[in-house]
Amino acid sequence: AHLSACDIIFFGALGDLTQRKLLPALYQLERAKLIHKDTRIICVARNTDQDKGIGQTRQSLTKYVSESLMNTDVLEAFIQRIRFLSVNFDEIESYRPLKDALDSSTNKERVFYYATSASLYGTISANLSEQGCLNEQSRVVLEKPIGFSLETSHQVNSEVGKFFDESQIYRIDHYLGKETVQNLIALRFANNLFGTQWNQNHISHVEITVAEKVGIEGRWGYFDKAGQLRDMVQNHLLQLLCLVAMDPPADLSADSIRDEKVKVLKSLRPIKSEEMGHHVVRGQYTSGYINDQRVPGYLDEEGANTSSQTETFVSIRVELGSWRWAGVPFYLRTGKRMAEKSSQIVVHFKQQPHYIFDPEQRQLANNKLIIKLQPDEGIALHILTKDQGLEKGMQLRKAPLQLSFSQAFGIDRVPDAYERLLLEVIKGQQYLFVRRDEIEHAWKWCDALLNQWQKQNSPPLPYPAGSWGPANSDLLLANDGRVWYENQ
Ligand code: BG6
Repeated sequence: AHLSACDIIFFGALGDLTQRKLLPALYQLERAKLIHKDTRIICVARNTDQDKGIGQTRQSLTKYVSESLMNTDVLEAFIQRIRFLSVNFDEIESYRPLKDALDSSTNKERVFYYATSASLYGTISANLSEQGCLNEQSRVVLEKPIGFSLETSHQVNSEVGKFFDESQIYRIDHYLGKETVQNLIALRFANNLFGTQWNQNHISHVEITVAEKVGIEGRWGYFDKAGQLRDMVQNHLLQLLCLVAMDPPADLSADSIRDEKVKVLKSLRPIKSEEMGHHVVRGQYTSGYINDQRVPGYLDEEGANTSSQTETFVSIRVELGSWRWAGVPFYLRTGKRMAEKSSQIVVHFKQQPHYIFDPEQRQLANNKLIIKLQPDEGIALHILTKDQGLEKGMQLRKAPLQLSFSQAFGIDRVPDAYERLLLEVIKGQQYLFVRRDEIEHAWKWCDALLNQWQKQNSPPLPYPAGSWGPANSDLLLANDGRVWYENQ
């Protein structure tokens, strides 16, 4: 698509997200020549000036862009675009220099990126509007978390919605910017092989795992209020679930895709109170070993409140009330300080209707499609073959058909999610962003679960750092006669 010149305005420009992720991502777009020559980057923050801001940005780029991708000419061209302005977000008068800067250019398209706390989104929008900084070509990018519940997300969305039309709003879920996540759409809807099998007639169950090795990374204050359900499930895991479970969209337009995702979210079956015991597991890590190093438990992290009952792990057996998925459990699982950093989706297919092989081999795994989102991005299809060798009869053996993206396509680096997302905002394409009704349906379902937890008021189950979560998470599948993929 044609890339027009625009002004990109970052609020919270000295914050961790802008410095660690957003500016390095834009630098990569510069390197790939995907930014128009007249595009400007306006960084606003409290109490800053050009020298201080550029100084810090140079440091961050050196730190967060790997040396092999750093090119001095590209860097200087990139720095030339950046202008730092000091703005107090809740003081309307202080927006004046921003207004002057915007007026001084002929760029009509404006991307306002709110990398601040969501509690400021309404105020910033109102002040921008009042100072005349907004035009019809303005877009606004909202970072997560948008609220902590249905009610608070509704508030934030309504406040921003007074000044921006839904077609101007880009809500980030950075998982949608990952190449392998977008690949789910290609895999499902470009391959008849999967398209025709993708339902309860052929699929027995699906696992969606997002496991991290990292702990709280100095974010205790935020994380303890949120917990793993709000931090990861409400957004990333439910988005992955949507992409796996949705019906084929009519076309690739943003609304066609998002309409289908909303249908999935609406079909999420609420978890009943009597199911809580065996369909949902909440865990909290205790000290243990990661990469052979001893690491502290959640309650011993810096800044921790030692009586916290916040969960750092959750696994949930989810069912969808739809014709396509009736009776097919989706097991969602995510946690901090787990054995591996690994995000993957495992689709388990049912057995053939009539079995002719050695009954002893019946328990051999069925066909499985493993979609590895990160790291080692790729796809494997586990099939059954005849074991080789004269001495073997019709004995079965499982074998993977394997596609590694880096090997197959000779890719030396996977672009960061934010590179893709910033590019799409610049192009004005919304299909990788979350629509208001999606966020709200996801909150509605999570709120119901959070309410049940609150009523039960039982502490999370401990699990040692470096494990796959509390033992009860294995029971979640064992109750259905199944085991998690890595235990097979
Ligand atoms: C963020 C969460 O949205 O996603 C973090 O707030 C989490 O807690 C991160 O660590 C994981 O993202 P990624 O891209 O590293 O899988």
